[in-house]
Amino acid sequence: MSAEIDPFHAIAISRLAHSLKAAGRSIIHMEFGQPSTGAPARAIARAHQVLDTDGMGYWESPALKERIARHYLDRYGVTIDPERVILTCGASPAFVLALNCLFAPGARVALARPGYVAYRNSLKALHLEPVELPCGEAERFQITATALERIDPAPDGLILASPANPTGTIIPPAELAAIADLCRRRGIRLVSDEIYHGISYGEPAQSMLQHAPDAFIVNSFSKYFSMAGWRLGWLVVPESHVAAARARMGNLFLTPPSLSQHAGLVAFDCEEELEGHIAVYRRNRALLLEALPGMGLRRIAPPDGAFYIYADIGHLTTDSLSFCARLLEDTGVATAPGVDFDPVEGHRHMRISFAVSEELVEEAVSRLGPWLAARRAEAGLS
Ligand SMILES: Cc1ncc(COP(=O)(O)O)c(C=O)c1O
Repeated sequence: MSAEIDPFHAIAISRLAHSLKAAGRSIIHMEFGQPSTGAPARAIARAHQVLDTDGMGYWESPALKERIARHYLDRYGVTIDPERVILTCGASPAFVLALNCLFAPGARVALARPGYVAYRNSLKALHLEPVELPCGEAERFQITATALERIDPAPDGLILASPANPTGTIIPPAELAAIADLCRRRGIRLVSDEIYHGISYGEPAQSMLQHAPDAFIVNSFSKYFSMAGWRLGWLVVPESHVAAARARMGNLFLTPPSLSQHAGLVAFDCEEELEGHIAVYRRNRALLLEALPGMGLRRIAPPDGAFYIYADIGHLTTDSLSFCARLLEDTGVATAPGVDFDPVEGHRHMRISFAVSEELVEEAVSRLGPWLAARRAEAGLS
């Protein structure tokens, strides 16, 4: 029996946004979590150069695997053998590889709700059972060791994301350590999605590898490196699973694009340009956190990292999809409905991605203000 997979509603919003744009409307794209900046200039220059000299066959760059291994040492103080790094076409297939290496059909895998839409759907597609843990404001929308302890019987696996999508919250180091410890004790296999590492506004996020050396780590060039369309990412697997992960990568996906691997290697040395993007996100975040409460959006997840605001709009609607569609049609500001991230509570939330320019965030704020005031008036609120 094939699995039932829910659609990603933000795609419908984006389609509407593009059709409105084609009809001449001014649109601000804040519906997808993708930097609007493009790859670093030197990475692009490298791609131009190799196009003329490289045959672009199937290929895995040994230099890129070594560079990624060095990154774990430099950033987290963790030594890994480059052979434990599997290069993938982004975090999405890395995640499928991790789940398929670790779990047999029917296995139960815990995850936070709200969470990235593809976790739930990839689990379902692989005939695994999502065990969703409702995580509210009190838990900063993240799984805790205490909540995990309560699941009986213990799940087979756990997916963590820190910083998280859609909330941007980071799991503090002591909690990460407690989760790692609990997983060891209860035999729960860990998959840690670290795709938003490098994008944080206070303390940087720790890697789960610092606490659980046998965790599977998913990462990508799509966010910090601003290379979403280059389709490049990686999975770090424990020594025991290298052969299994390679076999799956070879059969399911072969290799990531050669061109992207050449460019990705150079992207690691473009820190100044990439940190410039983080400075923009930091200012955008401050601008929104300053402006939104005055517009009645007071219940906002604290975005420690990533580039999202996840706001409670429950005083204005119980249907986030229609709300986001109307917001887009009336103002040209495209956002993602919370129902993508949380099928239960998401009807009363929306996610705003601020990975755009400061000018666009300012413009979005000026359009949102009067529109939200009108919605408050409609709802009989002052
Ligand atoms: C938390 C999270 N994980 C994974 C992905 C998929 O990223 P990629 O483009 O690397 O496949 C996304 C994309 O938005 C994401 O938000």
